[in-house]
Amino acid sequence: MPFSLSWSLSTMDFMAKLRAVYRCGECGGSSPKWLGRCPTCSEWNTLVEELQSTGVAGGAASVLPPSRPIPIGDVDLREAASRSTGLPELDLVLSGGLVPGSVTLVGGEPGIGKSTLLLQSLAAMATAGARVLLVTAEESLQQVRLRADRLGALSADLHLVAETSLPHVLAHLGSLRPDVVVVDSIQTVFDPDLGSVPGSVSQVRECAHRLVREAKEQTITTVLVGHVTKEGALAGPRVLEHLVDTVLSFEGDRHHALRVLRAVKHRFGSTQDLGLFEMTEAGLTGVADPSGLFLADRRAGVAGSVVVPTVDGNRPLLVEMQALVSSSTLAQPRRCALGLDSGRLSLLLAVLERRVGIALGGMDVHASGVGGVRVIEPGADLAIALALVSSLTGRALADDVVAYGEVGLGGELRQVSLPERRLVEAGRLGFRRAIVPASGPPAPPGVEMLRASTLAEAIDLAAINSGC
Ligand code: TYD
Ligand code: MG
Repeated sequence: MPFSLSWSLSTMDFMAKLRAVYRCGECGGSSPKWLGRCPTCSEWNTLVEELQSTGVAGGAASVLPPSRPIPIGDVDLREAASRSTGLPELDLVLSGGLVPGSVTLVGGEPGIGKSTLLLQSLAAMATAGARVLLVTAEESLQQVRLRADRLGALSADLHLVAETSLPHVLAHLGSLRPDVVVVDSIQTVFDPDLGSVPGSVSQVRECAHRLVREAKEQTITTVLVGHVTKEGALAGPRVLEHLVDTVLSFEGDRHHALRVLRAVKHRFGSTQDLGLFEMTEAGLTGVADPSGLFLADRRAGVAGSVVVPTVDGNRPLLVEMQALVSSSTLAQPRRCALGLDSGRLSLLLAVLERRVGIALGGMDVHASGVGGVRVIEPGADLAIALALVSSLTGRALADDVVAYGEVGLGGELRQVSLPERRLVEAGRLGFRRAIVPASGPPAPPGVEMLRASTLAEAIDLAAINSGC
């Protein structure tokens, strides 16, 4: 616990100025008395007692200088010109780069690669001439230096400070006046003048609030690192999302090399662009051809495997869906969905039984997206359904076929978003035929469209019926 060492305040000194509130660890909402359920977000057992110093939260706004209204045409756009992060995939997600004076929160599970990503970016920005500061509140200077050695990220203009105390961090910002600062992580920074313990919701929120104010006043581009709990909420302060300009989420399966970076909120651009990285020995490298990466180990001619051109944000990705159907010895056969939504798998099994007449009730069913990427869009329905039937009948689809489409409860095939992008990406990777909903766009050059209006028709077109 890095913060417990420096926590040497006498709680007694505070008591007179403090009052107890009960703060929700999920949403940051508060209640004057303990309740089993948070009155703000309705989560159970999330309220914890916290001592709050009176007058702290409200005082911030009053010290800011008053602003002057100006005509909208007089707003200086040069101030909003963004700075490249040195990592093209990160720039893509940020719609160009980091805007001066903006505050970005980078969230992700511990160990996913947040520190690595930001160290690489800081080194690149320093090399490009920016004055950058890394406040490491979790790792020692030696640990960061060792990592920088390995990543080839030693840059003379990259400054480091190991610090957990907010007043000290602010002092460093004042003296060094960096263009860019990364605080890793916001959960381990604390202000001893606040009554609550380090890591508590009010500490994290207050520290973030002070850093945001500093960023705006001094035009320091600020990146805060925040760990995310298993449930997907930032540990404690989902409230931080409202304080900052941009929220990035760094995701992936720790057992796979692929990492996905997406913008959850972005005040300066689109949230539709996805960044893809591969974690290698030499740190994170951008993935130029993600579809090729996903399909690299695919074996052709295997029953139960179907390639789907999905889109995530604006980015088309070819992903192999696999299914394995086997006879069950269990009273309640197994249903296992990995990397895809288990609700959609149940729906597809029900549609196959009722609308197509293929019953899998007595079988164990496993279905997964390959490569550690999570495919939750309905466009993958058809590929999953075809993979299930193919596994059942033991008949593989042809090697050059992809399939996409949403399957409705009536067994009908429905159109999905961005069909052209899916088809062009499939064509680029050498697929020549696509089983698609009947209502689709014209075929792009080089890809033949096999149009089906129902799941049953699509199964016929895929030639995986046992009777074929
Ligand atoms: P890290 O950036 O420390 O994650 P976070 O800050 O999100 O907690 O990265 C953690 C993992 O990344 C670690 O388990 C080892 C792996 N890694 C590599 O595979 N290659 C590398 O070059 C580096 C620096 C880390
Ligand atoms: Mg880290």
